[in-house]
Amino acid sequence: MLAQNRLETAVGAIVANSQLHARWLNTFSYLEYVGFRKIVKSQRAEALTAEILTHALEEGRHALGLKKIALKIGGDAFSAYAPETMLCGDEAEDYFQKLDAACDEVFADRPDALRAKLVYCYVTWLVERRALQVYGVYKTALGASPVAGRIGGLLMEEEKHLSDVESEIAKADPDFATRAPKLEAIEGRLYETFIDALVADLARPKTLAAASA
Ligand SMILES: [Fe+2]
Ligand SMILES: [Fe+2]
Repeated sequence: MLAQNRLETAVGAIVANSQLHARWLNTFSYLEYVGFRKIVKSQRAEALTAEILTHALEEGRHALGLKKIALKIGGDAFSAYAPETMLCGDEAEDYFQKLDAACDEVFADRPDALRAKLVYCYVTWLVERRALQVYGVYKTALGASPVAGRIGGLLMEEEKHLSDVESEIAKADPDFATRAPKLEAIEGRLYETFIDALVADLARPKTLAAASA
């Protein structure tokens, strides 16, 4: 089955069960938090623009917004990021960290400041495109739920991050056209690995038993 179809099937099962749904939300809250932390840690203050600062804070706000919905649906057990309160949390973080490391390697020969900028741009570009796809599938699965409206707001901000970073890349990297497909392929493989783990976890009797407890 294509990754898109596997995601749709998995998300359909997740939103139908409040415990799985809260774990899903907490996982994406965690990824938003990792994104926020990465931007803050990787950008040197002398090059930190209002746009990048806004991006970081919006990712932090997304982390908090998703966390609040997880708490509402799942209760106090979701107050932090304990592994059992997420769905494949380790694999989700692996996706992000390995993508960051791969982009860092591509620009290893650049001076530090330029490398930090290009890695930030490309990781953002790849992650935002994936986020739009995954949150889009999630929003559709939510139907008329009030949570869908919240995800719609978040999607609008992700779209803005994507278009901002696209114009940054156009200015900073003349080799975008040849570089992009290679990085997209790396991201695609990392994403498939995450979806494999998610589908396998959802099929595990332990996950289903915990979800119906
Ligand atoms: Fe975000
Ligand atoms: Fe974003």
